[in-house]
Amino acid sequence: MVEFLPHITFWKMFWRSFYRFSESVVVFYRLANIGVVTALVGREDAIIADKLNHASLNDAALLSRAKFIRFPHLDLATLEQRLAASNARRKLVISDAVFSMEGDIAPIKQLIALCEKYHALLVLDDAHGLAYWEKRKGSLFLPDSDYVHSPNIVYMATLGKAAGVFGAVCRGAS
Ligand SMILES: Cc1ncc(COP(=O)(O)O)c(C=O)c1O
Repeated sequence: MVEFLPHITFWKMFWRSFYRFSESVVVFYRLANIGVVTALVGREDAIIADKLNHASLNDAALLSRAKFIRFPHLDLATLEQRLAASNARRKLVISDAVFSMEGDIAPIKQLIALCEKYHALLVLDDAHGLAYWEKRKGSLFLPDSDYVHSPNIVYMATLGKAAGVFGAVCRGAS
């Protein structure tokens, strides 16, 4: 990690107090998305992604070589069908938490519930939620998202937007 004072301040005062385990910082958020997704899945796996996800998540999915399946924006019924139909070794659901162009929010609680039901992991990109929603704690702390500590969630966020520094954070169960 680069020893950059705003980062260290962010780390100590903000991130560490809300999220207690497994963190890392990488220089560019796009690279964080690519690094995490390609580390989690490969050829024998499947990625099931919201059709309106950020381009960096689509790049990550393509680079991972996993089967890339998409579902219509926020359509949980279709997501469930795709999860049920997949016999991939590992299933990764990927969604923005807040969709910047549409201004809507993913149904995080339901997404995690589906991932738990179908033994999938949820990669949640909270670029537009961390340091903004719920006293800056991010979208996982929205009132109806009470799955903050689900082992099925891999939480990603950029530090280059509302947090006001640069890089990215990633947090998941070990
Ligand atoms: C949802 C989402 N993910 C990832 C990124 C990439 O973040 P960065 O610009 O910090 O590389 C952005 C940037 O706009 C974004 O909106």
